[in-house]
Amino acid sequence: MGKLILSFLLSLFLTQSCNADGKKVFETYCWGCHHQTAVAFGPPFAQIASKRSAEEIQAMIADPAGVSKIFGYKRNAMPPFKLKPIELKEITDYILSYKAKGK
Ligand code: HEC
Repeated sequence: MGKLILSFLLSLFLTQSCNADGKKVFETYCWGCHHQTAVAFGPPFAQIASKRSAEEIQAMIADPAGVSKIFGYKRNAMPPFKLKPIELKEITDYILSYKAKGK
């Protein structure tokens, strides 16, 4: 739970510095397991965007083992990522940009 709060503060701090290149972050780190709108190994971004906040997404990236349990997954298959703050912001915006496009 402490991590959730930390990520929330972090995202507030980062809202100014936006020069979105989330697609690159996505292709570098996430593409093997997530697709934008199709189900891959992990859920599609469109589905994630429809039910999660920026804070939840960032908490999941930093601590999937802990957060996947809170999200209701029985097992955790996603590895943690240590992204730079700007990359974290970019990938979060990128995921949330799919909010309207999926189900
Ligand atoms: C090795 C495969 C793999 C990689 C790489 C990966 N993920 Fe995941 N992701 C998963 C799986 C599987 C789940 C389902 C929960 C679990 O098993 O932990 C998941 C779940 C998530 C969730 C929560 C889904 C929900 O229910 O809201 C988010 C957010 C997420 N991933 C974002 C990312 C981002 C961003 C990246 C790149 C930085 C990434 N993932 C890279 C496999 C992966």
